[in-house]
Amino acid sequence: MKKYLEQPGFLSPYGTFGADLSYLLAIGFTLLFMAGWYLAKQRKGQAHHTLTLIAMTAMLAYFVIYYLARELGAVAFEGKEGFGGGAFIYTWVFSPILSFHIWVVTVGIIMAVYMIILGYRVSVRSLDRSRTNRSAQAIHSSKKKGERVLADGPPKLTLERFSGYTLVISVFLAMVLFMIRLLSRPPGIGLFIAWFSLCVGGGVLLIALEGLARMFYPDGAKRHRAFGTFTMILYLIALFTSTATYLMLYVFWPHLSVK
Ligand code: HEM
Repeated sequence: MKKYLEQPGFLSPYGTFGADLSYLLAIGFTLLFMAGWYLAKQRKGQAHHTLTLIAMTAMLAYFVIYYLARELGAVAFEGKEGFGGGAFIYTWVFSPILSFHIWVVTVGIIMAVYMIILGYRVSVRSLDRSRTNRSAQAIHSSKKKGERVLADGPPKLTLERFSGYTLVISVFLAMVLFMIRLLSRPPGIGLFIAWFSLCVGGGVLLIALEGLARMFYPDGAKRHRAFGTFTMILYLIALFTSTATYLMLYVFWPHLSVK
């Protein structure tokens, strides 16, 4: 698989297949998220939920598969040697944009997981009118009975339960990833510790985020809208920064010996 990803690309003569595929998928996922955002703005909660859930799950799955296969060995991480531009551009332009991009993507991934869980904790089908913030008439006027809407009040689950479930699931996820990897190439203990820390570390960040969110947005509907808008803007920034990184690596200043 790693060899396959390192084949010549199809977008730029200097790109690799993995980089080109990643970039195309980044555009595709962002378009899907924007369509999901548009549906939420149109108050089509169920369609928004389906589209965002599919797009987010596909994006997370792609990330895991890509990084399992490449072990983070992308050209962008090879340091100055992997970059065809001069030292000045590397230090003052490429490196800051790449670091910023990695931060945005890392926060974006944590927000994706948090928002999917939050979506289920704060939404109800509109037939359950008692928990929605819409008037009965608005619900009746919805063509499809059972449209998904945000509910008033705090999200389901106490902080204790949220923390407990999150920790158990993150340990379970680390185990599953380890098993998957065992099926192809047995990983060393170092890689296992890295996956384990990544999953459990991510879980701890989710718990910290939930604690902070409770203080600033106790109402679940308001929290979903505010955090959701922030996440969508983050994805737009991720697309801009990945476009800049791609152009610098494979179009403006390709490292000719990489090909
Ligand atoms: C990464 C995942 C998600 C993001 C970034 C996100 C983002 C958003 C945003 C920005 C809004 C407010 C739109 C506006 O009025 O300006 C919204 C509304 C909503 N979201 Fe999500 N969402 C996500 C996942 C989910 C999931 C998984 C569900 C359900 C299980 C869900 C259910 C809803 C509902 C019901 C609304 C209200 C739509 C309405 O006003 O009728 N969302 N979301």
